[in-house]
Amino acid sequence: MPDTLEIRFPAAGVEAELAVTEATIRATDLRQFPVGGEPLATFDPGFMNTAVCHSSITYIDGDAGVLEYRGYPIAELAEKSTYLEVAYLLLNGELPTAAQLQEWELLITEHRMLPDKLKTVLAGFPYDAHPMTILMASVAAFFSFYPDAQNFEDKSARDLNIARLIAKMPTLAAFAYRKGKAKPYINPDDKYGYCHNFLAMLFKQNERRYEADPRLIRAMEVLFILHADHEQNCSTNAVRSVASSGNDLFTSCSAGIGALHGPLHGGANEAVLRMLREIGTVERVPEFIEGVKAGKARMMGFGHRVYKNYDPRAKIIKKSVEDVFEVTGVNPLLKVAQELEKYGLTDEYFVKRRLYPNVDFYSGLIYEALGFPPEMFTVLFAVPRTSGWAAQYQEFITDPEQKIMRPKQIYTGHRTRAYVPMEERA
Ligand code: ACO
Repeated sequence: MPDTLEIRFPAAGVEAELAVTEATIRATDLRQFPVGGEPLATFDPGFMNTAVCHSSITYIDGDAGVLEYRGYPIAELAEKSTYLEVAYLLLNGELPTAAQLQEWELLITEHRMLPDKLKTVLAGFPYDAHPMTILMASVAAFFSFYPDAQNFEDKSARDLNIARLIAKMPTLAAFAYRKGKAKPYINPDDKYGYCHNFLAMLFKQNERRYEADPRLIRAMEVLFILHADHEQNCSTNAVRSVASSGNDLFTSCSAGIGALHGPLHGGANEAVLRMLREIGTVERVPEFIEGVKAGKARMMGFGHRVYKNYDPRAKIIKKSVEDVFEVTGVNPLLKVAQELEKYGLTDEYFVKRRLYPNVDFYSGLIYEALGFPPEMFTVLFAVPRTSGWAAQYQEFITDPEQKIMRPKQIYTGHRTRAYVPMEERA
């Protein structure tokens, strides 16, 4: 016997039972109840309690602090896998065999170069353009170089363009970084793996061969794995929403990059570092906390729509901070961050609201220790999130339940008024 929700609506003289499946009711079932001539609907700004799809990619239990990709706990993937293995898992549902991984890595290596003419597009940006703007515009521009992305219903065209995007994101990110520093671009090098090559394209100077410390390569792999997907967050929702009107992968992911850039989402890591710099010393932490409690500021890198417990990614990043600082030396802002966290985990304001450190709280410290300016931080989030967006895009495109996204509104403006000629307007 299926679960049902009984609805009694005396004003409209309606009584009905709504089917409850998968702990949800179908919002369209409410339409049968007319209220003042309008079909009953739900009001849910920010999608606080609305499921928009079935998905088998990422599982989160925010209360328990659990995150799994395709059923594998994030901590285990971060410890044992490479980023490209995880990207394969997100896209295909299973971890690759050795042969599948080799083939996938080869495919990605083959597509790392940017189209030559894209360099002309990059040259058109001001020297101090934000690298996220460069990323967003360039990913949108990919569609003009690879128009076959419009054949998204053809699996082979879709797979090829997903590989192109995942392969080119580090190159694009590194070019955006070097443009800001007025340094010549470094092309990808087939001899390096995904993360090592990324570090080389970013930091290579005049040396014949760029050798990154293996601890830094591993830290990059871990950060990329942790950032690869996070189910229906703001940017993924943007990707799905833009895809829903029949758009290609590049246009859709370009929208995702825009959404990620906001300081309440991926831009928070940049905001955390600016906050830590502003606070400056451990002694000034109590004063800052008082300001947060008085509503003057937010503690960036704290709080999450879904996690009401320690973000499992933040736990893993905290460990990576130590590994990176072994190579780079300790970032003095670490002490400020630790002091803030101490307050955050004990002060009633944060405890009552269940605000814990999120993924962005410590990642900025690593990025700064690696030599990145704050404006690159969200770029370093966008590069690995591309595999998640691509997996979500693919799931959306192949889901027969999905439709063009079109929320309802509750109209509060004027109704049919007499037009006011210019000479009569106040
Ligand atoms: N500092 C201080 N107070 C906070 C914070 C914070 N970081 N986050 C939430 N609160 C308070 C709010 O003021 C509110 O208090 P109230 O009930 O007295 O009004 C309460 O906690 C609930 O906050 P909401 O904003 O309603 O929670 P929501 O789920 O909408 O927002 C968000 C989640 C946007 C992440 C929020 O916690 C925030 O702004 N955090 C700081 C930015 C940040 O770190 N973003 C990165 C998130 S991770 C990611 O996107 C990759």
